[in-house]
Amino acid sequence: MAQPRILSGIQTTGNMHLGNYLGAIRNWVELQESHDCFLFMADLHAITVPHDPKLLAENTLKIAATYIACGIDPDNSTIFVQSQLPEHSELAWIFNCITPLGWLERMIQFKEKAVKQGENVSMGLMDYPVLQAADILLYEPDLVPVGEDQKQHLELTRDIAARLNFQFGSEENPVLKIPEALIREAGARVMSLTDGTKKMSKSDPSDQSRIDLIDPPEVITKKIKRAKTDPERGLEFDNPQRPECNNLLGLYQLLSNQSKTAVAAECQDMGWGQFKPLLAETTVAALAPIQAKYNELMSDRTYLQQVLANGKEKAQAVATPTLQKVKAAMGFVQ
Ligand code: TYM
Repeated sequence: MAQPRILSGIQTTGNMHLGNYLGAIRNWVELQESHDCFLFMADLHAITVPHDPKLLAENTLKIAATYIACGIDPDNSTIFVQSQLPEHSELAWIFNCITPLGWLERMIQFKEKAVKQGENVSMGLMDYPVLQAADILLYEPDLVPVGEDQKQHLELTRDIAARLNFQFGSEENPVLKIPEALIREAGARVMSLTDGTKKMSKSDPSDQSRIDLIDPPEVITKKIKRAKTDPERGLEFDNPQRPECNNLLGLYQLLSNQSKTAVAAECQDMGWGQFKPLLAETTVAALAPIQAKYNELMSDRTYLQQVLANGKEKAQAVATPTLQKVKAAMGFVQ
């Protein structure tokens, strides 16, 4: 029997951080044992804000290398580049024509990012979630594993699919399969190191706010040493007055592969002076094998290009028939 399918992706802007790893990639690695995985680099999404053409291709390869370094097996999972499949843009255009503008005006990420762009906010930034819906629905996945911040985009994706099915399909014969979001509680919201109420983000101007997966050990240690804390003694989860404490304990829990109860017991009497070196050491040790593999992969571009060429072919074999099905349902000439 065919395995259930998952699809997910990461935007190719900047380095990947602990939020991307713990909120997304780590779950994909676990799911790949029992699922057919389609994982891609969202480079068309990366150009919705001003970008540097000299870095775009390099960033795409870096993300591919990170997927593999974190444990995605390119022989089993399909790893591909969004812009290499024109199906994504074509389906996005079709979705544009059935998506009410009001649905996009409500998107939280658009509002947050648009403020930063001022007068220069592009049409593409507003359209970002529609392209994301196309990315997903082309592959008819069962599940889309993402962090908490993508929840609204996933709901929009489901609404677009339902609308297209309602307008151009029938209840017995839906055109598109409607996927479920998979948001794991642990790691779904990794917060900034400088403010425990804000999510860790690639676009935060402060480098100190995040730990990149390729940060060298001394940088990781320094960032953790400087991370915002509070004056309390004794560490605890889930105290709304102590968001930084909850976040740093959560990182320790995930990176040391322990249960929440075990970490709560271990750290309840600790002060920051004892906990921070422990967290730094744990983070460095968890990232060391990923960094070693990443460096190895980045020095073998031929291999990476081969993985992406294979991925493109496997992705296209699924995406093209879905696009054709939508076009047929909408009445395009066949
Ligand atoms: P992006 O590149 O912002 O993030 C990639 C993945 O990492 C998760 N994530 C986090 N999880 C926990 N804590 C954080 N601080 C944190 N920051 C990021 C995100 O939830 C995401 O799962 N729009 C998407 C890329 C995309 C996509 C798709 C994803 C394009 N098309 C189709 C899934 C399916 C994005 O920008 O993710």
